[in-house]
Amino acid sequence: MRKKVTKAIFPVAGLGTRFLPATKSVPKEIMTLVDRPLVQYAIDEARAAGITEFIFVTSRGKNALEDYFDHAPMLEQELQKKGKDDLLATLKSTYMDSGAIAYIRQHRALGLGHAVWCARRLISSDEPFAVILPDDVIAAEKPCLQQMVEAHAETGGNMVAAMEVPAEKTSSYGVLDVAEDMGSVVSVKGMVEKPKPEDAPSNLAVIGRYILTPSILRNLDRMKKGAGDEFQLTDAIADDIRAGKPVYGYRFDGQRFDCGSKAGFLQATVAFALARDDLRDDLSAYLQEMVQLDKAAQ
Ligand code: UTP
Repeated sequence: MRKKVTKAIFPVAGLGTRFLPATKSVPKEIMTLVDRPLVQYAIDEARAAGITEFIFVTSRGKNALEDYFDHAPMLEQELQKKGKDDLLATLKSTYMDSGAIAYIRQHRALGLGHAVWCARRLISSDEPFAVILPDDVIAAEKPCLQQMVEAHAETGGNMVAAMEVPAEKTSSYGVLDVAEDMGSVVSVKGMVEKPKPEDAPSNLAVIGRYILTPSILRNLDRMKKGAGDEFQLTDAIADDIRAGKPVYGYRFDGQRFDCGSKAGFLQATVAFALARDDLRDDLSAYLQEMVQLDKAAQ
């Protein structure tokens, strides 16, 4: 019987330079889409997929992130006194069971592969684990990681979330070399980090959800720096392919927002606000007005 995926690593130790100066003091993952920080979307998705242990790889300046998952007794008392049960219920989703969350420091931002490797002692040698990048936010009827966990129960091996991107954008992603296309699942015979369009083996790009086998951590033990002079997770997965181990891409159902970029973050803000009953009417009237003004100005 395959072991269930119950642990997820959340690498959040990056510098977030694209959001400076905000990220000088606010961790990127605490920035909010409407009224919930990015990390809350990631945690909700992980919980829906059956994750019970949450491992954050953090860095200096990320205290706000750790505080976010703490209980807030004074705030709770105030809300209780005022009978604000709905807000109390909202707070509940931010709480973690004691011992369910662990924080590991990545002392230098040496790359995503290095961040995942920092958590190696918390993963047993026989259990698959998930990796979630909170700045990739995915709006989906069935949460993306849940879709992947269900597919992984059939395939085993390593699995990465994948989506088609325009050919000129391949240099922003890890890109899959597809061996066999089976629809939602593709088997992979190679992976390249940030290839130029002319060198890309396909336009099927990896985004921030992974289910990995512990062999990836062993590959990272002897990792050399790759693209961008960083230790790349893609290279460690490509090592497994070379060793003849199965790697799959999973074309998820849903819309992915790159909230690590300003344009993606703004698009996600609008999309999530329009999905809310309490905001939709006002916001869509405002957006229509803005579009008309813009047209008139041209
Ligand atoms: P990004 O490539 O988006 O880098 O990392 P970044 O530092 O967060 O942001 P920019 O590019 O400077 O604006 C993707 C994910 O990998 C994590 C980040 O925190 C983010 O969740 N990461 C990256 C680490 O945890 N450690 C690293 O050394 C690099």
